[in-house]
Amino acid sequence: MTPLSLILFCVFVCLVLWLWCNRRFISVYRKVGSKHITKSEWYSFLFRSDREEVLKSLHSISDHAITNGGLSAIWMLHRFYLIIAGAEDAEYVLKYHLEKDDLMWALRFYTRTSSVFATVPIWRPRRKIISALLSHRNVTKFEPVFAKNSKILTEQLQPHVGKDAFSIWEHLNALTLDITCITILGIDLNSQMNLQDPLRTAVTGVMDLAGEILMQFWYHVEFIMKRTKNYRKFLKYDQVINDYVNVAMKKHAQITKDDSKTLSIDNEEGEAFSLLHLLTELKEQRGFDHTMIHDESLGLLLAASETTAVSSSMVCVLLSRVPHVQHKVYQELMEVFGESDRDVTNEDLPRLRYLEAVIKETQRLYPPGPYITRKALEDFVLPSGVEVPKGTNFLISIYALNRNPKYWGPDADEFRPERFLDGSFSEKTIHFAFSNGPRGCPGTVFAMMVMKTVLATLLRQYRLLPAAPGAPLRFQLGLTSKAVDKFSVKIQLRVDRKSV
Ligand code: HEM
Repeated sequence: MTPLSLILFCVFVCLVLWLWCNRRFISVYRKVGSKHITKSEWYSFLFRSDREEVLKSLHSISDHAITNGGLSAIWMLHRFYLIIAGAEDAEYVLKYHLEKDDLMWALRFYTRTSSVFATVPIWRPRRKIISALLSHRNVTKFEPVFAKNSKILTEQLQPHVGKDAFSIWEHLNALTLDITCITILGIDLNSQMNLQDPLRTAVTGVMDLAGEILMQFWYHVEFIMKRTKNYRKFLKYDQVINDYVNVAMKKHAQITKDDSKTLSIDNEEGEAFSLLHLLTELKEQRGFDHTMIHDESLGLLLAASETTAVSSSMVCVLLSRVPHVQHKVYQELMEVFGESDRDVTNEDLPRLRYLEAVIKETQRLYPPGPYITRKALEDFVLPSGVEVPKGTNFLISIYALNRNPKYWGPDADEFRPERFLDGSFSEKTIHFAFSNGPRGCPGTVFAMMVMKTVLATLLRQYRLLPAAPGAPLRFQLGLTSKAVDKFSVKIQLRVDRKSV
């Protein structure tokens, strides 16, 4: 046998073996059907260098899932995925299948054991603590933090009034990071005053690198990944984050030592507590170690600051482009606050119904995290009747679920906040921006409170104008979906407070 025929024989044997091992996935792939993938889409999936193209490809597969009865199938290299655009299937998977997919394995190089991406045994006990931290009762105690930082934002935006377009995301990201630092770590960062703050650079840097690792499959091999420039960059960022967490942990260890009264989660009247305070208190009782506290703090900094900043930036971009909606928001603000510049309080928030509808509609059409993943650890049958073999990965398309006309009506692609007030969709319709089920986002109340407070403060003072009127909105994929122009807008001072 010549060397060439030996190689061909080996390739043939490998192929037959692969087909045999994956026969059950191949059968589901055939039954469910898949979108015809164009050459450029294959290229973007395989070489994944252009984040905008990857996102467009995922969206077009999601569109196929909508027209294909709620499901589509795809191979991402050797991994088999079902793309879900049907609410019944998504709800079922999110309720009963809590393990995340194989791609998270690569992500964990950067996020370590943080429960956001952790395996179920690590995630489960930590989730209870995070849910307590982010309970409605505890979060409402942070009202002054939200109001103070919103005021700082309006001051920091002053130099942009009447000038060229600028990235509002940079400012909102600094704001959400400052809020997260004080509420999660108990440290005052003030990165709004210094957008180049090292911790902010490190947190946004880790988010960016983590987004990249998902897209480039050669990074999924530990041996290669640990020798890349990106990994060296990550280690530098991680050191910065670690130093901050250590300082915060020492501070809290001291507070708990000095403080004879113990903080209780159920204390209705008591002070708000940061996650670190809570974790430090529970450390001995539950056997948490330094690594756990570090990793959870890191995960929360990543999960909370970026998503909330992306979401509120997107609201600003849409309001700048749709003046009649911005006008209605302003009218509502005038009804609630009159001409006063006073701080937004917890009591004001339920009265801002139209603003809330605008936020929800923005998140429906442009969810900050348009895709989440799960993996089947056993065989089961989806509510749609498809038999799913153990080992199937799921890409739950929040993008498609939130735009599927079956649930949102024929104008599903339109930006129409009124739909949340006029009963135009069934009460059973699920808004998936914060996901659903036991692993759904525990920060929903926190995020909505921050966004409403910030926007109500910002929009009373400034009118938003589009950066480039009529230009198409362009997004790129990372851990969140971000605007290519970093959410650019222009602002003008409101001089028309009386003439609404
Ligand atoms: C607009 C803002 C936000 C959006 C759109 C958002 C969305 C999401 C989504 C889609 C997930 C994935 C859930 C899954 O895999 O099923 C998630 C998880 C998570 N989010 Fe958020 N989130 C936001 C803000 C926040 C905030 C402010 C916090 C904390 C203060 C937070 C903490 C978390 C945590 C800890 C997880 C992991 C949950 C788990 O696995 O148990 N998020 N979020």
